[in-house]
Amino acid sequence: MTADLTCAGIHKYYGSRPVLTGIDLSVPAGTLTAILGASGSGKTTLLRVIAGFEEPDAGRVTVGTSCVADASPAGASRPVFVPPEKRGIGYVAQEGALFPHISVGGNVGFGLERAVRRSGSRIDEALELVGLGSGFASRRPHQLSGGEQRRVALARALAPRPSLIVLDEPFSGLDAGLRSETRAAVSAALEATGTTGLLVTHDQAEAMSMGREVAVLRSGRLVQTAAPETVYRRPVDLEVARFVGDAVVLSGIAATGSVECALGKLPIVEEYKLVGPVSVMIRPEQIVLAGNGSPGAISARVVGNEFFGPHQRVSLSVGGAPDQVVARLAGHGRYPVGSNVAIEVHGPVCVYPVLATRSPAPPG
Ligand SMILES: Nc1ncnc2c1ncn2[C@@H]1O[C@H](COP(=O)(O)OP(=O)(O)OP(=O)(O)O)[C@@H](O)[C@H]1O
Ligand SMILES: [Mg+2]
Repeated sequence: MTADLTCAGIHKYYGSRPVLTGIDLSVPAGTLTAILGASGSGKTTLLRVIAGFEEPDAGRVTVGTSCVADASPAGASRPVFVPPEKRGIGYVAQEGALFPHISVGGNVGFGLERAVRRSGSRIDEALELVGLGSGFASRRPHQLSGGEQRRVALARALAPRPSLIVLDEPFSGLDAGLRSETRAAVSAALEATGTTGLLVTHDQAEAMSMGREVAVLRSGRLVQTAAPETVYRRPVDLEVARFVGDAVVLSGIAATGSVECALGKLPIVEEYKLVGPVSVMIRPEQIVLAGNGSPGAISARVVGNEFFGPHQRVSLSVGGAPDQVVARLAGHGRYPVGSNVAIEVHGPVCVYPVLATRSPAPPG
């Protein structure tokens, strides 16, 4: 069974402090949306409102056809509030620990009705889903690796066959290899069961690789919800641009369809309609070595180089650009500091209004 999730106008205060300020979010049935936000932006709070561990101060949460929370339902004097255990939502809490004193099987079967738990088959099924054999059921949590513990926590949330599962930073603390393995197990488990998912992370690559859509949360507000490519290539503002990836920002003068800046006259992504002074946003991988005799080539001097294996971040000084320009070049090339290279920009760039610089406070 699968269900869509809708949040409409969610507000949440802790005391007088607003933490969520008007969240509208819709996750289509059977898909995964990744919420990406900095620490303290309200990610856990939103998941807790959805799962029923917090009551919203305003707004409404709907799972499939059932309204599970509504702060001010039309025509009713009291809020709607369905308790967490009646929502049919699987919840993997941030740092969600297993019960240390009971077996893996006991942990996974925790939320099941007694008869279902006794048969054991649902427990085995949930463990299989996350890529752990039923042989794990008799182990204790301390006999598992960190990644296996995370998978058991996920199996525990999946065992009651929820229509929706919410996951709060389920892979944090895992090393890179285990992280991608556990990620793949989660994606496969959700896909196999058609479960709708909402995943919280502050890892940009994780959000973009796992989510059908990425929702960017900033100070309690969703500033952009779109497909990963859209959020990366057409971010709504410079802050989102910088948050979801590396960005080279230059000043420029935009005319219809193109912008003039230190890296030449560049085409603008179609959706952006600004003219006049702008901030130009270029992704570092758009900056490439210019081919021989390329008309758009710009000469630059290498001023820094960080090697990452498959690629390197090469800092360049370009005439006319006050700040360094960072290019992401292939790992096999050699770009010693002090050498000169010819570069050009591939693909369209984004332009944003120039942020008003604050004038200095008057003395005294
Ligand atoms: N129960 C609470 N009472 C008061 N303030 C709270 C409570 N829970 C969270 N906060 C505050 O609300 C803000 C949002 O917290 P939240 O846990 O939702 O952030 P987050 O985006 O999940 O952060 P992180 O990435 O660090 O987990 C924070 O400033 C936090 O201090
Ligand atoms: Mg959190």
